[in-house]
Amino acid sequence: MKISIAKNSGFCFGVKKALDKVERIKGGNKTYILGHLIHNKQVINKLRKKGIKIIDNVDNISKGTIVISAHGVPDKLKEDIRKKKLKIIDTTCPLVEKVHIITKKLEKEGYKIIIFGDKEHTEVKGIAGNLKNPIIIDDKPEIKELNKKYAFVSQTTKDQEKFNEIAEKLKMRIKGLRIEDTICLATKLRQNDAKELAKKVDMMLVIGDYNSANTKRLEQICSKIVETKHIETSDELKAEWFKNKEHIGITAGASTPDWIVKSVIERIKNEF
Ligand code: F3S
Repeated sequence: MKISIAKNSGFCFGVKKALDKVERIKGGNKTYILGHLIHNKQVINKLRKKGIKIIDNVDNISKGTIVISAHGVPDKLKEDIRKKKLKIIDTTCPLVEKVHIITKKLEKEGYKIIIFGDKEHTEVKGIAGNLKNPIIIDDKPEIKELNKKYAFVSQTTKDQEKFNEIAEKLKMRIKGLRIEDTICLATKLRQNDAKELAKKVDMMLVIGDYNSANTKRLEQICSKIVETKHIETSDELKAEWFKNKEHIGITAGASTPDWIVKSVIERIKNEF
């Protein structure tokens, strides 16, 4: 059985950068990660073992270091942390930071911001938290007041095709719509390479956390082309998936470490 791995898959530079910063921390009781540093349970569990705690908010923290995740937070929250005299280690991905800068600038220029994103995702909450009253859409655009200046942006890990499709629909309804494609390059490359590989194989395995937005997107894209299984670790592989399959394609989300991908490949080679 042949196994091919998508050219761009696994850790993106933003996640690598965030983890590098956190791995340099010695750990202990006074280091707290606000939310999930990255969406990967296995990596987070390793950090927990170092004594680093995961928290949802800073309300009860009066001493120590707060790590801001790669997904970013609203400016106001950073200010609040500073006011409490807590140390900040900011691992916000520069490409998420860029979306913050673009959207704040556009709002100052009088645009109402439409964000293509998941309302509950930390990144979207961070972007929206800096804006007055953004519209967040995940599917069909329902914009009622058409007489305003609008700008359309995206969560960095959304599906490129869907973004283009919605942008076209919005353009037809909103005169002078400003479109800023803020999907990050790492996401675009992962999506393109996964799509190309899916066309050549009998089955795709998408590896990554079930809560990882970009991993879910890869699964959605591949499953439109070929049989696709989304797994978090090698333990979930099933022998029956590999019956009559000659060529398996593998891709992994931007927050999936190499060691998890390697263990999946090893298990396929040794057992199926
Ligand atoms: Fe950054 Fe894109 Fe990765 S926004 S964290 S490089 S998926």
